[in-house]
Amino acid sequence: MLKNKTIILGVCGGIAAYKSVELLRLMKKAGANVKVAMTRSATKFVGETTFRVLSENDVMTALFDFEGTGTLNSQEASVQHIEWASQADAVVIAPATANIIGKLANGIADDALSTMMMAVTSPVIICPSMNTHMYENRAVQRNLDILEQDGMFILEPGTGELACKTSGAGRLPEPALIFDRLVKIFYSKDFTGKNILISAGPTREALDPVRYISNHSSGKMGYAVAEAAEKRGGLVTLVSGPTALSPPVGVNFVPVESAREMADAMLELMDNADIIIKVAAVADYRPLVSHENKIKKRDNPKSSISIELTENPDILKMLGKKKQKHQFLAGFAAETTNLDTNAMSKMEEKNLDMIVGNIVGVKGSGFEADTNKVKFFFRDGTIDDLPLMEKAQVAHMLLDHIISNVNFKK
Ligand code: PMT
Repeated sequence: MLKNKTIILGVCGGIAAYKSVELLRLMKKAGANVKVAMTRSATKFVGETTFRVLSENDVMTALFDFEGTGTLNSQEASVQHIEWASQADAVVIAPATANIIGKLANGIADDALSTMMMAVTSPVIICPSMNTHMYENRAVQRNLDILEQDGMFILEPGTGELACKTSGAGRLPEPALIFDRLVKIFYSKDFTGKNILISAGPTREALDPVRYISNHSSGKMGYAVAEAAEKRGGLVTLVSGPTALSPPVGVNFVPVESAREMADAMLELMDNADIIIKVAAVADYRPLVSHENKIKKRDNPKSSISIELTENPDILKMLGKKKQKHQFLAGFAAETTNLDTNAMSKMEEKNLDMIVGNIVGVKGSGFEADTNKVKFFFRDGTIDDLPLMEKAQVAHMLLDHIISNVNFKK
């Protein structure tokens, strides 16, 4: 996504400046051409040589003095900051101090970074980082509001213990989170205004308060679809069984445990959805009796016990029955054999617009893996057989298909 994009990374004087080194590394790894503009105070926290070596570019620290390329005359230098501004596909200021926030909000250009910013026309992400009282100061908050009104993206700081020994809001978000926000700028927003309901993860069917029946779904595939849809402008609700994953940023998250809880949530939320994608691995059966207290071994003198199971609701089938004309419904099929036949009959039986079939039990595909090997099946009989790829990539390919196959009638 960042390949061949020019990103200006503005670094201000704060203890969190060291995190900008990691942010720069992430941007470079994604193929971006990164140019670093530091304030004078930032150079007191991290040496500009570090940024120069890692960015493989000059570092801007002053308007009239570029180190690394020798001293430029004032005419060359004064053109350089305008040149950087015009080359920028995006600007990220991390950490952004109260000082730079105040300058940008009030049109003050008195150093290299703030002067360059006056000429920037690309998207800008501001990542405030400072002492909690400074961050909560009315002037700082007012200035942040102004920057937001001016069209800049403000990334809320994290909370926790700060370097100044106070605790509260003001921590620079982790580099991966800032990087994620940056990448989002470059996604096409083809799902803007669309309500997308996604289910993910396993369900847990309780035997007693400490034991349950479940499956190996990690939630990775479903969370990847939710994250991709959100990045492409969708209004995403993710109904998820228990997983070890953090909900993707910007997604409305609805945690559930059992198939029946998932059914209730999905049926309640479906009316508002334009697109429904059911990635969850739902337990087809649950114990007929869920014991109130822990089942004790001593209560069962025999060496084996039987558990009677009863059928769970088929959520996807219920959604298929309720589906309105304008809604697009997609399911997933996890199969160990006969993928094509089984997937296509599930699509028919559950009234789906498409189904994603994946072979499970094969290394690198299906449950738990970061990658997946899938086939897309459509109602008109077309099949798209994809190679093994990252689940995030599968998610985007799925959304590409949905957006080009869907006729939204709303
Ligand atoms: O979570 P990961 O570790 O990343 O793994 C991803 C995955 C393998 C779970 C995913 O890619 C996948 O295949 N999900 C569907 C798993 C599944 O339950 O398949 P199924 O063939 O049993 O069900 C078919 C469809 O009916 C699914 O959309 C399922 O959500 C739905 N279903 C099934 C049973 C049921 N009682 N209610 C349902 O809604």
